[in-house]
Amino acid sequence: MAELMGSWKRDKLCAEVTEQDIGKELTLMGWVARVRNMGGILFVWLRDRSGMIQLVFDANHMDGKTYELAESLRSEYVLAVKGSVIMRDASAVNQQLKTGTIEVQVKEAKLLNESATPPIYTDDSVNENEAVRLKYRYLDLRRPSMQNMLMLRSKTINAIRLHMINSGFVEVETPIMTKSTPEGARDFLVPSRLHPKKFYALPQSPQIYKQLLMLAGLDRYFQFAKCFRDEDSRADRQPEFTQLDLEMSFVEPKDVQDTVEGAFKAVFKEIKGLEIKLPLPRMTWKEAMVSYGSDKPDLRFGLKITEHSEWAADCGFSIFESAVKNNGIVCAIKVDGAGANLSRKDMDALGEFVKTYHVKGLAWLAVNEDGSYRSSFAKFIPEEKMSVLLEILQAKPTDAIFLIADQKLTALNAMGQLRVKLGKQLNLIDATKDQLLWITEFPLLEWNEETKRYTAAHHPFTMPMEEDFDLLDTHPEMVRAKSYDLVYNGVEMGSGSIRIHASELQERMFNWLGFTHEEAWERFGFLLEAFRYGTPPHGGFAFGIDRLMMLLTGTDSLRDVIAFPKVQNASCLMMDTPSLVHEEQLTQLHLKTLK
Ligand code: AMO
Repeated sequence: MAELMGSWKRDKLCAEVTEQDIGKELTLMGWVARVRNMGGILFVWLRDRSGMIQLVFDANHMDGKTYELAESLRSEYVLAVKGSVIMRDASAVNQQLKTGTIEVQVKEAKLLNESATPPIYTDDSVNENEAVRLKYRYLDLRRPSMQNMLMLRSKTINAIRLHMINSGFVEVETPIMTKSTPEGARDFLVPSRLHPKKFYALPQSPQIYKQLLMLAGLDRYFQFAKCFRDEDSRADRQPEFTQLDLEMSFVEPKDVQDTVEGAFKAVFKEIKGLEIKLPLPRMTWKEAMVSYGSDKPDLRFGLKITEHSEWAADCGFSIFESAVKNNGIVCAIKVDGAGANLSRKDMDALGEFVKTYHVKGLAWLAVNEDGSYRSSFAKFIPEEKMSVLLEILQAKPTDAIFLIADQKLTALNAMGQLRVKLGKQLNLIDATKDQLLWITEFPLLEWNEETKRYTAAHHPFTMPMEEDFDLLDTHPEMVRAKSYDLVYNGVEMGSGSIRIHASELQERMFNWLGFTHEEAWERFGFLLEAFRYGTPPHGGFAFGIDRLMMLLTGTDSLRDVIAFPKVQNASCLMMDTPSLVHEEQLTQLHLKTLK
């Protein structure tokens, strides 16, 4: 039978008890993690979010009723005890526990609640199936690793908030029920009861609101913002996630970047005890693509991409030659020592891998110990020409060389993916490194083959670089944006830009994106109208808190760093959401579902 706490008041968390408390009488409360009945003496590990402490129930030191209670204890029962802290015998010291040198000699106990047998273990030693863990997330969150993660997340957010407040930022909340924002994903919609056929959209980000706050004169805004995007889930994508969102007036990219760098410095210091060196390195988008085949390069390892189109133009191998003739490229990476480790089968598997990135294949060459080589393409190329390539690449015995021929961005992207795969497969990545890096000067627009239109590479409020204004009408694809991404160990942490702050330029931008004047006003009229009233130059940034926690805790899934995450198909296994609703609710919302 569960008892009430009554006048009992907890003195400390379990693992906050130290040798300093020896001799004191304390009241502790928590969950039973483990019971060992030695007959006449019973050892119980009491657990809470701080850790555990050992309780000793000695039949000789308590009344029979209390000892009887102790004997009835099971895992996850909720218990309160009063007892005195004592030193353990030297032979009984447990190095695994923070409180391993002490224990509590119990005098009185109250069973605050019983527990049904839990369907999953709540300690970290057992590897439970993830679906079951997520169904019983509230029990899963009792595991010390999950509790530590949540506490670390809270500490991280606190460090960021402190930095923002100390830097003169004002925290403002913006609506969750709003109008569709153009971040490029599908919206989650909320039907309106009061406005038949009309819908609110959940914000993909507070982008428009934060720009309006600059217009309103707030000068420096931030928010830990919940964002909602109906896109396919991936390990690093959740339909609902959290950003640190910020916006600043009268700034250039460097001012925004300085603020973000300061936040990262504070987090690294607080969480990892590391001093990161500022300013962080910068690389243009073009350099990142050409050298690493990615706009989020992982620089913890080498394997730089090199281009060999000039060599390939007349190499004799028709696939290479025609790629160059059709304005494409031939690019390569060289992997020291990998020629000896990778078998023919491995090479074929890598070939299949790159094909998933829309290239036709992978040409490879492995240099043997004696300088001879095995290769998938050398037979098509005269020997002298091959020697030139090996010379350019400075190939040594046991090196492996990979080449891809295709349209420039397609070839580079596939090579970038191969680079990361090889980095992981061959253990080339130094996992102890924290590599932060800015990528700058992204293209402003991207061509969409499906719609035959340009889309905004970041979002339609991004300012083009002044130097490229003239290209907007002639070569829109060459216009660079005043935008910047922050990359952490090869993962996109965040993006931002300086915004367009004049309504004429904003309207021209909508035009380039294929919106007619009417369409632009219909969707963003309130913004275009607002921009007429003295909008200051402004810019901002947002980074993913979940992604940051993922990297800080060294996991590769966002589900491990979110208290109540969604699974792959965007459902919550614990609450069973989304779920059907009553017919009556649908009627109130003027909705009918199709069978
Ligand atoms: P962007 O769309 O690039 O920019 O998002 C910024 C950062 O948010 C995180 N993120 C996600 N995290 C988890 N799951 C997702 N589905 C997801 N989508 C994005 C990433 C990403 O880098 N309004 C602009 C910012 C600005 O211009 O100020 C924006 O939202 O870490």
